[in-house]
Amino acid sequence: MNRNPKLKGQSALVTGANSGIGLAVAVALANDGANVVVNYITHPEAADAVVKQIEDNGGNAISIKADVSKEDEVQSMFQQMIAKYGSIDILVNNAGLQRDSPLEKMGLADWQLVINVNLTGQFLCAREAVKEFLRRGMIPERSCALGKIICMSSVHQVIPWAGHVNYASSKGGIEMMMKSMAQELAPKKIRVNSIGPGAIQTPINTAAWSTPEALNKLLTLIPYGRIGQPEDIGKVAVWLASDESDYLSGTTIFADGGMLLYPGFSTNG
Ligand code: BGC
Repeated sequence: MNRNPKLKGQSALVTGANSGIGLAVAVALANDGANVVVNYITHPEAADAVVKQIEDNGGNAISIKADVSKEDEVQSMFQQMIAKYGSIDILVNNAGLQRDSPLEKMGLADWQLVINVNLTGQFLCAREAVKEFLRRGMIPERSCALGKIICMSSVHQVIPWAGHVNYASSKGGIEMMMKSMAQELAPKKIRVNSIGPGAIQTPINTAAWSTPEALNKLLTLIPYGRIGQPEDIGKVAVWLASDESDYLSGTTIFADGGMLLYPGFSTNG
């Protein structure tokens, strides 16, 4: 636990927190004093390990199973969280997946699964969080905002991605969903922002970094010269959830080692 925790007394829900970026975000928020709900859908043992890691660091966490694309499961998760921690201050809409294929081979099921989890899941969780923020009311000694929502987006809310039309569409959708929610909710002192990670070394993109050839090819897209680590995103999430970023609303912070600088143009164009 950090010495001067920025999120003391606050409760955070991180969806898809039993691996990858979600795991690192859950651990980072807990290290800064938040009570954390580690949401998962498969691999309960991995969720339990995250809870244990947080407890070993002196933090507080529970795991809750819920499919973020199912309205009743999301509502039940919020009920369980509120029963345990009293309310919610921070939602990190992180759960996401890829089902890649060339367009002409993309089945409707793979289109819908990606949209349902990545986009509809964020809507369902945001809606329940906002209901609870409004019910609970302001607690000024806890945070100067009524609530904070962080949407996990991607550089692919900007960069088109052949072979990943469902995924890129879901991330493009997140951008406008996030901004519209931010515009609607800012007058109520609810801050909604996104993080746009680049290539982060997690299970979602193993093929892009697990061989030296693949990694070298990937690095040609990253001017900063290294693949991102989940902890790089955990740090951004803590800041975005804390009052230090109180004036941010409707913004995407890209943490991508410069991927969005279009490095192909450094020697061409
Ligand atoms: C994707 C990864 C990919 C990265 C950069 C992320 O949103 O999930 O698979 O490596 O974007 O292209």
